[in-house]
Amino acid sequence: SVLHIVSQHLSKQGRKLRTHQWCFILFNVVLFHALLFGAEFMEEYFLHSLPPVNMKVLEIKDKARKLNMESIRSIPSKYYILSQPEVCKEKSIFLLSLVFSSPENRTRRDLIRKTWGNVTSVQGHTILTLFVLGMPVLVTTQKEIDKESHKNNDIIEGLFLDSSENQTLKIIEMTQWAVSFCPNALFILKVDEEMFVNLPTLVAYLLNLKEHLEDIYVGRVIHHDIPNRDPNSQGFVSLSEYPETYYPDYCSGEAFIMSQNVARMMYVVFKEVSTMVPADVFVGICAKTIGLKPIHSSKFSGKRHVRYNRCCYKFIFTSSEIIDAEMPLAWKELNDGKDCSLFETYYGLISCKLLTYLDSFKHFRMGTIKNNAMYFGD
Ligand SMILES: *[C@@H]1O[C@H](CO)[C@@H](O)[C@H](O)[C@H]1NC(C)=O
Ligand SMILES: *[C@@H]1O[C@H](CO)[C@@H](O)[C@H](O)[C@H]1NC(C)=O
Ligand SMILES: *[C@@H]1O[C@H](CO)[C@@H](O)[C@H](O)[C@H]1NC(C)=O
Repeated sequence: SVLHIVSQHLSKQGRKLRTHQWCFILFNVVLFHALLFGAEFMEEYFLHSLPPVNMKVLEIKDKARKLNMESIRSIPSKYYILSQPEVCKEKSIFLLSLVFSSPENRTRRDLIRKTWGNVTSVQGHTILTLFVLGMPVLVTTQKEIDKESHKNNDIIEGLFLDSSENQTLKIIEMTQWAVSFCPNALFILKVDEEMFVNLPTLVAYLLNLKEHLEDIYVGRVIHHDIPNRDPNSQGFVSLSEYPETYYPDYCSGEAFIMSQNVARMMYVVFKEVSTMVPADVFVGICAKTIGLKPIHSSKFSGKRHVRYNRCCYKFIFTSSEIIDAEMPLAWKELNDGKDCSLFETYYGLISCKLLTYLDSFKHFRMGTIKNNAMYFGD
């Protein structure tokens, strides 16, 4: 139909297209699609390969199978301030979604409870959404959290200060909790509170995974990331903490999924891995230790905000940096029952992809300008 419109337009001007001109237009249309979608197909193809199995991995598998979490289950207060020991009991849970939230952010938690976090079942499979917190700085905030927890029974609070430096600790505590108190959850989603999650499409995707269902670690895979070697910056990683040039492939930390089996294996190797790397990299290194390759899906947004478009949001799994006003809108339209036709989905994807690329370009330019300003300000 695009070609049709183009040809009509051109013939109006009294010009007839020759074969080579048609070919040129066709070539451009194909090129446009290849540029827009091709990278993702390639990524998914190349990043999906079988994990190597060696003796060490078999040993870890064995340890994971025999893992006994009774000591934690019997005295949860020694490990958690709030542990919700009952929420998973006697339920078969398909997806446990653990939202990483900051202690002070009750408004955001309430918004998630009212929107995407309110999904309790998809195609008959149970979903449980809980919030994971560290300790707040203020005692008054703790009192608020206690009240909130009493009302909703959906907050897990670890025994560590919730700070940006302690995010790796948060992942460890979360995994320990899932393995101890929710061993019957098949998949575990780690997601940050600034995200919008389309749980129905995500569950449909998980249901369609056919290979290696036990060993799943899936998200937006970051390939060949390099450690921050600038000693003056906050995320500095020294050579003694991580000597290699590249990080192993890992799932971007805003949202990723692992199976219960993987969580247990990760728990076994946590103590062997340096925690002095970014939290998502830490998980990636653990995955490598257990001989697991992450599976890439471009429907995870990573840290990018996907420009809102109804049919696009029905298609993707997550979008980052959702502002308060956007959350209920996206949620309402996602549930309006109106389906998207093939063309609407196609158009939606083109438009939200293009706009998202333009946005990231803008961010990049802003970053460069800021850096230059700092440079000149010195
Ligand atoms: C959550 O969903 C249930 C139905 O599953 C509905 O009855 C309830 O009102 C919803 N809660 C909110 C806060 O939207
Ligand atoms: C991380 O948590 C521990 C345990 O609560 C605390 O002692 C430490 O100060 C925290 N680190 C940061 C950087 O906040
Ligand atoms: C709460 O979360 C939102 C979304 O991530 C964020 O924009 C806001 O700064 C957070 N507020 C606090 C107090 O942490």
